Amino acid sequence: MKMQDDRNLSSFKSTFVFGTATAAFQIEGAANEDGRVDSIWDRFCAEPNNIVNGDDGLVACDHYHLWEKDLQKLKDLGVDAYRFSMAWTRIITSTEKEISQTGLDFYQQIIDRLHFYQIKPFVTLYHWDLPQYLQEQGGWLNRDTAYQFAKYADVVSSHFGNQIHTYTTFNEPWCSAMLGYLHGIHAPGIKDRKQALQVAHIILLAHGLAMPLLRRNAPMAQHGIVLNMGPYDAASLSEQDQLAAELAESENNDWFIQPLLEGCYPALIQEIYPDELPDIESGDMDIISAPNDYLGINYYTRQVICHNPSNVTFTYDSVTPEEAEVTAMGWEVYPAGLTQLLVNLNKRYEMPPVYITENGMASDDDYDEVLVNDNQRVKYLREHLYAVADAIEAGVDVRGYFAWSLLDNFEWSEGYSKRFGLYYVDYVTQERVPKLSAHFYKDFIRRARSR
Ligand code: FCB
Repeated sequence: MKMQDDRNLSSFKSTFVFGTATAAFQIEGAANEDGRVDSIWDRFCAEPNNIVNGDDGLVACDHYHLWEKDLQKLKDLGVDAYRFSMAWTRIITSTEKEISQTGLDFYQQIIDRLHFYQIKPFVTLYHWDLPQYLQEQGGWLNRDTAYQFAKYADVVSSHFGNQIHTYTTFNEPWCSAMLGYLHGIHAPGIKDRKQALQVAHIILLAHGLAMPLLRRNAPMAQHGIVLNMGPYDAASLSEQDQLAAELAESENNDWFIQPLLEGCYPALIQEIYPDELPDIESGDMDIISAPNDYLGINYYTRQVICHNPSNVTFTYDSVTPEEAEVTAMGWEVYPAGLTQLLVNLNKRYEMPPVYITENGMASDDDYDEVLVNDNQRVKYLREHLYAVADAIEAGVDVRGYFAWSLLDNFEWSEGYSKRFGLYYVDYVTQERVPKLSAHFYKDFIRRARSR
C-alpha cells in the first residue's frame, strides 16, 4: 500500500484536468420551480415500482437552492473542472419552444461562480432528462426529437458561447437506448431491441446535428460526447464464450463508438440482428461521424460474458467472477479494465483525446458524526487513477479524470439507496459531510500538482 501511495504521479501533466461530475436530475430538485417542466424521469418516478423505495427527483440534494455551498466544495477540493448537466426542462419549456430566461440565469450564476473559482465548466446538454412534452410526440423514436435537441443545443451555446470550456452533447447514449428501451429499467421503460437500436441512432444523429451549431456558437470551446464503456471479457476459453463476449462488446461498445469514429455500425450486429436494425436515412452516417474534439469515457467496471442460449434477449449473460471484490451496486472492482479498455480502443480506433468523465463507486456509507470512513472508495479511486496513469504511459492521450460524484445523489432506478458521493448527503437536513475519499482526492490532486 505504501509503495502505491508513493507512486510517481508524473504521468499527469500540468495540463491534466482533475474534476468531479454531477447531473441535473440527480441533484437539483426544485422540480416544480421557476417554470421547469416534467422530464421523462419525473414521469418514470411517478409510476409505481420503477424506483427503489418509490424515490423521486422532486427535492434530491436541493442543489437548486444550495448550489453556492456545493460549488464551495469544489473550491475546497482544488479541482480544475466541474462536469454538470443542464436541464433541457428548465430551458425550453414547451413545444412552442419557449425559452426560459430564469432557466438560463440559474446556470449563468453557476458558470460565473466557477469562473470566479477558476474552475472550468464542462457542461453536458443531455443527461437523460428528455422533456415529457417531446416524449409525448414519440421521444427518441421520433427523428424530429434530434432536430429539437439541435435547437436546444443552439439556444444554450448561443447564450453561453465560450464561457463553457467543454460541451458534451450526450451522456451515455447506451443508457438512454439500452436501459430505457431494451432492458426497460430506465425511463421510459420499454423492452424492444429494434426500438433500442433506433433510439441509439436518433440520439447519435442528434449529436451530429448539434455539433456544427456548438462549434459556430462556441468556437473556442471543446465539443464532443460521453460514452459509457468497459471491456467485455469471455468467462472461459470456450469458443462459445469467446463469441458471446465479442457479440456483447459489439452491441454495447462498438454500436456507439464505431458510428461516431468510422461512420458505420458494427458488421456483427448487422449480421446477428438483421430484423432489428434502425432506419437510417441517406446522409445520417456522415452527420454522425463528423470529428469530435474529445471523447468522454465513463468507466465503472468490466463485464465477464458467458454464452447462454436460453437467454432469449441476448444469448449471453454477464457474470461476476467468484473471487471478485464488488461495490454496493454489485459491480466488480476492476481497475486494470480501465487501462485495458483505453489501450485496446487506442489500437482499434483512431481516437480523439480522451477524458475519463466518470469513475467511482457506491458504498454503504454511514455518517458517524465525525467522518465517513469510505475506505473502499479511497482504494477504488486511487487504483483507477493509477490505471489512467498506466494508460497514459502506454500512449493513450488521456486529458482528464472526473470522480463520480461530488455528492451522494439520486441514483436513477436505485433512488437514494446507493451513495456514490465524495460528500455524504443527509437527505433530511441536506447537510453535506466530506467523506475520507474527499480528503483523499484533494490530497491526490495536490500531490499531482506539486511534483
Ligand atoms: C452513470 C451515469 C451517472 C451515474 C453513474 C453511477 O451511468 O452517467 O448519472 O448514475 O452511472
